[in-house]
Amino acid sequence: MTIAATLPAYWTPLNDHITAEQDTDLLALFDDDEERANKYAFTHGSLYFDLSKTHISDSVMEHFERILSESGFKAALKRLFTGDIVNLSENRPALHMALRAKNPIAATVSGEPVAERIKAERDRLYALAEAYRSGDIRADGGARYSHVIFIGIGGSALGPELVLSALASDEAAFDIHTLSNVDAHALQAILVKCDPHATLLVAASKSFTTLETLMNVETALKWMEAGGVMAPKQHLVALTAVPEAAKDFGVKDDNILTFAKWVGGRFSLWSAIGFPIVLAHGTDAFDALLKGAEAMDKHFESVEPRANIPLLAAFMDVYYSVLLGAESRATFPYDQRLSLLPAYLQQVEMESNGKGVTESGEALSWPSAPVLWGGVGTDCQHAVFQLMHQGTHLIPAEFLAVKTPAHGEDVHHKVLLANCFAQSAALMAGRAPDGDGPLDMAKSFSGNRPSTTILLDALTPEALGALLAFYEHRTFAAGTLVGVNVFDQMGVELGKEMALNISKAQNGGEGMEAFDASTQALFKRVFGE
Ligand code: F6P
Repeated sequence: MTIAATLPAYWTPLNDHITAEQDTDLLALFDDDEERANKYAFTHGSLYFDLSKTHISDSVMEHFERILSESGFKAALKRLFTGDIVNLSENRPALHMALRAKNPIAATVSGEPVAERIKAERDRLYALAEAYRSGDIRADGGARYSHVIFIGIGGSALGPELVLSALASDEAAFDIHTLSNVDAHALQAILVKCDPHATLLVAASKSFTTLETLMNVETALKWMEAGGVMAPKQHLVALTAVPEAAKDFGVKDDNILTFAKWVGGRFSLWSAIGFPIVLAHGTDAFDALLKGAEAMDKHFESVEPRANIPLLAAFMDVYYSVLLGAESRATFPYDQRLSLLPAYLQQVEMESNGKGVTESGEALSWPSAPVLWGGVGTDCQHAVFQLMHQGTHLIPAEFLAVKTPAHGEDVHHKVLLANCFAQSAALMAGRAPDGDGPLDMAKSFSGNRPSTTILLDALTPEALGALLAFYEHRTFAAGTLVGVNVFDQMGVELGKEMALNISKAQNGGEGMEAFDASTQALFKRVFGE
C-alpha cells in the first residue's frame, strides 16, 4: 500500500500531480515564470522568506488551498487562537500566543481570566529581574551577582538559551551559563567559572519534578554551601507552573515566578521561563521579542493562505515529507549567533510532531515529522554538504542569514553571505556531466534539490521574536495537516520510567530481571551483579 493510498482523499489530486511529474524541476519552474523569485518570496517586517527554490507552483498553490479547506485547517486554527482544548490528551488549550498578545482573545481558561493572569505574572517577572539587574537584591555578603547558572532542560532551557546566544553582547548584565545535562561534566565546567558568593541559581521547570534539573540544582546548592555561602536557597529563583513544588523544595515565595499550565514547555520562552533573557537584556528587549512574536501571530491568524508564511512553509514541509518521503529536513543558519537554532527546532518540531497516532488515537499510516537536523554555516559546508549535494537522500534545506551583522568585519560577512547564497543556488542548479573522463559522473551534481532561505535585516529581539513564532506556527500547521496532537509528548515517558527502574536497581533494588539481556549485561558490566 502506498502512502498516497492511506492519506485522506483530499491529498490524492496533489499526489497524482506529483506522480504525473508535474512541476518537478526547479530550474524549469524558474524558466517558465519570470516572476517566480518575487512571487514566492514573502516579506514580514524585517524578515524575508524565499520559498521560490521549493517546488511550490501555481498548481501546487491550488491544491494547497483546496486541501486546507477540505481538511478543516481553518477551524483548527480558530480553535488554537480562541483557547479551545487543542491538546486533547492533556485536556488543555495551548495559549502561548496569549503571552505576547496585547488583547488575548481567550478571555478565560477554566474560569480564570487569561489577560489578568499574564499581566500579573509579567509584572512580577519584570520587577524581580530589575531588582537583580539594578543590584537592589544582592548576593551573599552584599556583593553584586556577577554570574547566573540557569538550570533547566528541554523546553525549559532551549528557548532562553537560544535567545541568550542570539542576542549576546558585551552589555548583558550577567554571565549566564545554561546547565541542562545531568552529566556532571557539564556542571563542573560551569562551576569552575563561577564564584559561589556572587552566583544566582535559576531553576526552570514547568513541572518542578524533572530529575535532571532538580539534581543539578541540589548539587549547585551544595557547591555554594561548600564555598561558604550561609543560606544557598536564598540565591535560588524558581520558574514554574507548579509553585507549590518549588516552595516545598525550599525556594522563598518572592523568588518563585509562575506561568500557566496551558503554556507548553517548548512554547514557554515567552513566559516566566524567559527570566534569564530579561536578566541579561532587560525588559525593553523582552518586550521587543514579544512584539515580534505577536506580529507573526497576527500574520498567521489572519493572512489568507496564499500569503501566510508559516502555513506555506508547513505545507511544503508536508509536501516533501509525506508525499515525497523526505525523511529529514536540514536547517543551516549562516550566523554564529544562531548556532543553537537546530537544537531548539529539534525540540519544537520533533517533540511536537514526532507522533505515531492521530489526534483521535488511530495509528498514523503516513509519516509524521521528518528528522530535523542542521548546523552552522560555513562549518557545515566542510562536514555534511557533500551528502546534501550528491547524496541519494531528498533533504529539503533551510538557510538563514542576517543582512547586517553586529560586528564591523565587512569582508568576513560578504564571504559568509556569498557562501550561503551559493549553497542554495548549487543545490538547485546542479552540474551536468561534461563527458570528460572517468570521474565525469562523480563530478556531476543532480541539482533540483529544494531549499528555502530566510533573511533577517538584523538580529534584533523583535526580528528574533517573529522568527521563533514563525517556527512555532509552522510546527502547529504541519502537525495539524498530518493530523497529530502537536502539544503532548507521551513518547518521552517510557524511557523516563525505565531509567527510574534502573536507578532503583543501582541502589540495591530489584527489577533488572525485567529488562532484556543486553541491558542486563550493560548494567552488570558497570554495577556488578
Ligand atoms: O522530557 C520532556 C519534557 O517534558 C519537555 O517537554 C519539557 O520541556 C522538559 O521535559 C522539561 O520539563 P520541565 O519543564 O517540567 O522540567
